[in-house]
Amino acid sequence: MISNKERVVRRLCISFMLAVVAACVHAAPADAAFVFKPGVKWGNALLSRQLGILTPPESPAPRINGPTVFGVRPGSPILYRLPVTGERPMKLAVEGLPEGATFDAATGLLGGAVSKPGDYALAFTAENARGKAKKNFTLKVGNTICLTPPLGWNSWNCWGQDVTDEKMRRAADAMVSSGLADHGWSYIVVDDCWRTRPTEKEAGMKRPGWIAERAYMYGPARTADDLPCTNPKFPDMKAMIAYIHAKGLKAGLYSVPATVACCWTWGSFGHEAKDAATWADWGVDLLKYDWCTADRDWWRAGNNRERQFKAYKLMGDLLAKQKRDIVYNVCNYGRYGVTEWARAAGGQYWRTNDDLKDTWPLLIRSINENMNVADAAGPGGWNDPDMLVVGPMRSNGFTTSRLTPNEQYAHMSLWAIMAAPLFIGCDLERLDHLAHSLLTNDEVLDIDQDALGKAGRPVVHTPDYDVWLRPLADGSWAVALFNRTWEEREIAADFKTLGLPASCAVRDVWAQKDLGVFAGRFATSIPGHAALLYRVRSAGILP
Ligand code: GLA
Repeated sequence: MISNKERVVRRLCISFMLAVVAACVHAAPADAAFVFKPGVKWGNALLSRQLGILTPPESPAPRINGPTVFGVRPGSPILYRLPVTGERPMKLAVEGLPEGATFDAATGLLGGAVSKPGDYALAFTAENARGKAKKNFTLKVGNTICLTPPLGWNSWNCWGQDVTDEKMRRAADAMVSSGLADHGWSYIVVDDCWRTRPTEKEAGMKRPGWIAERAYMYGPARTADDLPCTNPKFPDMKAMIAYIHAKGLKAGLYSVPATVACCWTWGSFGHEAKDAATWADWGVDLLKYDWCTADRDWWRAGNNRERQFKAYKLMGDLLAKQKRDIVYNVCNYGRYGVTEWARAAGGQYWRTNDDLKDTWPLLIRSINENMNVADAAGPGGWNDPDMLVVGPMRSNGFTTSRLTPNEQYAHMSLWAIMAAPLFIGCDLERLDHLAHSLLTNDEVLDIDQDALGKAGRPVVHTPDYDVWLRPLADGSWAVALFNRTWEEREIAADFKTLGLPASCAVRDVWAQKDLGVFAGRFATSIPGHAALLYRVRSAGILP
């Protein structure tokens, strides 16, 4: 005999199992091939329909991708690889080159240097057997660089402290061979752990338990000539950077305004001028400068905000004096009002939050913290909600991200509308179809790279859903519909609430399809934890 209580428990168990089975069937995406892989941990994927691949296949006709504007300081070497997709062979050309600038039609590399400040109007063309594309482009020679958010790959999420010279070169190779470089991805950045490591005695503190022992890394901080010592996995930084440049890509590296970096390597404190000059000599194009343990070194320099400003400005001024443009990332995890002073410290982008990992709560944290400071972003200075966690991440055995496909769509859509710097953190050699499609949607990247440089914000923000708006350079607007809940729901963009014309033409940016003209509002069903992007223009009918 079973008791009533047992009967109820059994019934509940059976209903729960049936619900799970039903949800599994419901959740199976259209392109199942890229979804069900060993190691994937998508618990809540079961709770909503998951989006499959939305980006259309690449057209064989030429498309010139990337931004419409590029900034370089007077006299600094120009390094810009024209990103073009389409069948090869392809004939590239440019009109309007100012004196000193060069263009290599075989590689698409814009180079040389221009000493006279000004806005130079260029026109690129790309032609193949399938057609011809043209793109107007402004080369702005002046003191503001990084006119659109930087796009690249960073070693930290992928390799952590096990990064090597070889892995960096392979990332550069994969950036080109995967086709990503043709969509505008250009920086290859080595994060922490290219340097030697102090002993606890040298550091004067205990090494945190989460940093695994790597015996080969121990070594002196500097050479007899005061150059930063690299660990044995980086035998020749200059050669590695030359390798990255030879692919038309740009090279970045990491340091800290401290004696000891976050992952227990030596930093730049006390040797800032030598380091800035060394990096310029090596050919570095970007520096991520991470606060880490710098409080210990800078405690005399005032309160938290003052000491951070001083430490970051010291390096910012030194970088600006070099004979090449080095994009400067102020990475202090969004603390002490950084959005108010990072630009004055010389920064081109600054973190707005603590480290992002591929989990939903941390994704939400990055979004929520970034959306409150949208006004701080603009050409030459960007809010950084941290690196991308889409694609085959190390945290998930290099299978995929621990974010569900829907969450990865939310991630990319919102980073694009926020005008965020985009740094890929997965292994480029293991990109699957979903990851590749998320990173190569040119209309999504066009929104991120829009020349107006205004960051989007949620005009409608509720615990369950948001409607984001970003004005774009051509007079249209990007709109993101973001479902914060697990359940699929309809979300409406009400034109009046958004301050848009009464009648608007709406384009589905992910699918790259015009949806038609809508009066008053556009509404659609957004699956759980997803955000989708739309480009909206006035249909000419005023309110
Ligand atoms: C900090 C940064 C990360 C990464 C690590 C490296 O946590 O926020 O992005 O650079 O340090 O140690």
